[in-house]
Amino acid sequence: MINVLMVCLGNICRSPLAEGILKSKVNNELVYVDSAGTSSFHSGELPDRRSIQVARKYGIDITDQRSRLFKVTDFDKFDLIYVMDKSNYQNVINLARNEQDRVKVKLILKENPTASLHEVPDPYYDRELGFENVYKMLDASCEIIASNLNYVN
Ligand code: 4NP
Repeated sequence: MINVLMVCLGNICRSPLAEGILKSKVNNELVYVDSAGTSSFHSGELPDRRSIQVARKYGIDITDQRSRLFKVTDFDKFDLIYVMDKSNYQNVINLARNEQDRVKVKLILKENPTASLHEVPDPYYDRELGFENVYKMLDASCEIIASNLNYVN
């Protein structure tokens, strides 16, 4: 089993989409995917309705997800920790206990050599178009992550 964690700030907009998209592309008996936030502002809440809507538009249901806080023990449970932006990266790295923890943390868009950005913009205060763009960026990176993981498996 390979364990992959998607991380953003609130765990209601970006990382729930990343979780849902990657789950849809991998063999779920071989790859476990979860998501978390570096803040507890929205703990226990459903994903943002705009994330739910854009995922549904592409045939993915993310309404089983609830926001939770990233915790230090996630470094033990997960092999790969994908963050959405540099501020998430810093928040997670600040909790790392050693180099073994630190090497697990990666910017998700860096998996895609053709991506024009290195950070997934925070769509929280944006209109629906922001969520559509975020979906497409995450979909392209998750396609590459999934093919790498399936190769490993
Ligand atoms: P996310 O977006 O990190 O993609 O889930 C955000 C959601 C909520 C807040 C910030 C970002 N907030 O400040 O409440």
